[in-house]
Amino acid sequence: MKTAPELWLPNRTAKLPADIAYLREKYPRETWDEHRNFGQTAAFWLQMHNMFRELGGMLKTATHEFREGALDPDEFHRFFAPRLRYFLQHLEGHHQVEDYNYFPLFRSYDKRMIVGFDLLEEDHEVIHDLLLSSAQTGQAMLAALHTEGDARRFAADAYADNSDKLLNWLLRHLDDEEDLVIPSILEYTEGALFGH
Ligand SMILES: [Fe+2]
Ligand SMILES: [Fe+2]
Repeated sequence: MKTAPELWLPNRTAKLPADIAYLREKYPRETWDEHRNFGQTAAFWLQMHNMFRELGGMLKTATHEFREGALDPDEFHRFFAPRLRYFLQHLEGHHQVEDYNYFPLFRSYDKRMIVGFDLLEEDHEVIHDLLLSSAQTGQAMLAALHTEGDARRFAADAYADNSDKLLNWLLRHLDDEEDLVIPSILEYTEGALFGH
């Protein structure tokens, strides 16, 4: 099933509708970690998401500072290159584990979850394309660090456009995914969903 246009990640500006996130109301976000069914998988899932939020924010800040002239090229390169690589590789790996290991378990547990998890998997496809272009534009920016003038500026602009879009869409995706995953774990338990 294809997602409605307004729910496609690049167009989505608000939380998922309540008929898709059908357990969200019952389990408000502020109460998640106190619930007796909040287990290790739920905690680890949120930790991973928070790591992506934090690292994405650090990369954005560093890029901004570099473009403003507050970081010199070598300093920027040392900070930025390993973190961008880590961010992109781990995000891709995280999505693969979700697509192949976890999402099928939610879908098969209750048919009502099929629509939501199909939508999240489509989000991953959109994010995957942006991950590739972020890697390319990021490499091009690093390669142009020691060139003078326009070439360096254009390369940094191209990366910043791409990665701002990636981060905005990723933040939307992480919130929406949590609204499906965590309430389902609290309702059905990790043991029932994942067999552990
Ligand atoms: Fe995801
Ligand atoms: Fe995730």
